[in-house]
Amino acid sequence: MKLLLKIWRQKNANSKGKMVDYPISGIEGDMSFLEMLDVLNQELIEKGEDPVVFDHDCREGICGSCSLQINGEPHGPDRLITTCQLHMRKFNDGDTIVIEPFRATAFPVIKDLMIDRSAFDRIQQAGGYISVNTSGHTVDANAIPIEKDHADESFNAATCIGCGACVAACKNASAMLFTSAKVSQFALLPQGRVEATERVQNMVRQMDLEGFGNCTNTGACEVECPKGISLENIARMNREYLAATTKG
Ligand code: SF4
Ligand code: FES
Repeated sequence: MKLLLKIWRQKNANSKGKMVDYPISGIEGDMSFLEMLDVLNQELIEKGEDPVVFDHDCREGICGSCSLQINGEPHGPDRLITTCQLHMRKFNDGDTIVIEPFRATAFPVIKDLMIDRSAFDRIQQAGGYISVNTSGHTVDANAIPIEKDHADESFNAATCIGCGACVAACKNASAMLFTSAKVSQFALLPQGRVEATERVQNMVRQMDLEGFGNCTNTGACEVECPKGISLENIARMNREYLAATTKG
């Protein structure tokens, strides 16, 4: 395949970026999207030009770092996959592909396609954990009966990989789907109920402090989420938040 790539280039966080055209050829349908960018970067390096910076780590859909906006969609045209799982067979010979970083005030660009997602880390640090005294008296988790439905829903919420596609898809750059997944995975388990009141308040407070927008129930986040995290988690977080803030 021959393609025309239009890629966002930005030297650093303070410089103004711009779209740059890169024609590329010899792309196979079996290549992943990131392998296609590797080919481009190899060519740029051989020409003595600055390669395109993009985030990646696992290249198997589990780390959430390969976040790219491709033709206006987070992680590209396919559903329930990350950018590293996107294959070039989804595109046609002669296509133009527009590649940008995820856009949100709370995700500043570091360079080219790489963004700073540490806002998510700080939300997580505000309450996305369980404090357990492990000094020898901890009850074995398997000894605590948990309804199968709750265990399944908690597991599903825990599959969020923190990629940020929900924020990039949202017209308000809201982080509600991410935060609600992190709240839900604990809210559904007895171990998580102990700190539930503080957790939801602290995580929502941090989410607001980071500058993410509000949820207006558009649902774009759910559509673009590579892990199929459900909007039901946002409803659950809202119930948890209401209960926590009206507790007498
Ligand atoms: S909720 Fe989905 S889209 Fe949002 S960070 Fe988690 S995995 Fe990514
Ligand atoms: S590189 Fe880890 S999810 Fe894509």
